Amino acid sequence: MPASALLTLMTTAARKAGRSLARDFGAVENLQVSVKGPGDFVSTADHKAEDIIFTELSKARPDYCFQMEERGVIEGADKSHRWIVDPLDGTTNFLHGIPLFCISIGLERDGEMVAGVIYNPIMDELFSAEKGRGAYLNDQRRLQVAARKDLSNAVITTGIPHRGRSGHERFLRETAAVMKQCSGIRRTGSAALDMAWLAAGRFDGYWKHGLSPWDLAAGLVLIREASGCVSDMDGGMNIIQSGSIIAGNPHVHNMLAGTLKSIET
Ligand code: IPD
Ligand code: CA
Ligand code: CA
Repeated sequence: MPASALLTLMTTAARKAGRSLARDFGAVENLQVSVKGPGDFVSTADHKAEDIIFTELSKARPDYCFQMEERGVIEGADKSHRWIVDPLDGTTNFLHGIPLFCISIGLERDGEMVAGVIYNPIMDELFSAEKGRGAYLNDQRRLQVAARKDLSNAVITTGIPHRGRSGHERFLRETAAVMKQCSGIRRTGSAALDMAWLAAGRFDGYWKHGLSPWDLAAGLVLIREASGCVSDMDGGMNIIQSGSIIAGNPHVHNMLAGTLKSIET
């Protein structure tokens, strides 16, 4: 199925911003040795990528609203459409020269996520999905979540709350319970990539608290269009509002939800 004009626009914006991030990533690796460190440089790279995405999207759809991680909310005349953008997800990886980061662009229509693009410019992997039209890798391979039915064979990904964030104790309790039941736990350092890789069948399950709308928006469409199951921690659909997510195929999702529910918060 050919991509719609909207998805093509999102893809073009992501690839263009991705070229900028990839160039800056090459430079950041050389800055690792400097005493000052590359922190300011990375924040400039992040803003540059966001500027490119903003320019591309607003040129083509001047009335749409935006919610961007760096610029914040930008209101437009068309209140039913909103771009939700993380120009660099996996900032700590980027800063440390680890090539696991991406751009995430989601489109919300009348309160519902309808399209998403997640692009890792280093691996040149572009994950895209549109409601009712399937999820794809690089416009070629149709994506499907993994079919494994048992948690015992499943590789589960999550995120670890870092210094300054809440939820450290809860994370340890949850991880202790999940690791006893699954084949392995991974942590990529990019929530958007976790979701894209789950849609691609690389990960079987995902859980995480404390996420922002721009971490989640595009990935939700990808997982649903790859026949995955997503919910918040209570099994409801308030994923973006609560910032918490459980995902997997229906079997893994159920088992993961049951395990996490059994833990006192
Ligand atoms: C972060 C990453 C990380 C997740 C954090 C996010 P950023 O986004 O997605 O994996 O654990 O909760 O804030 O800061 O790299 O855009
Ligand atoms: Ca993020
Ligand atoms: Ca970010």
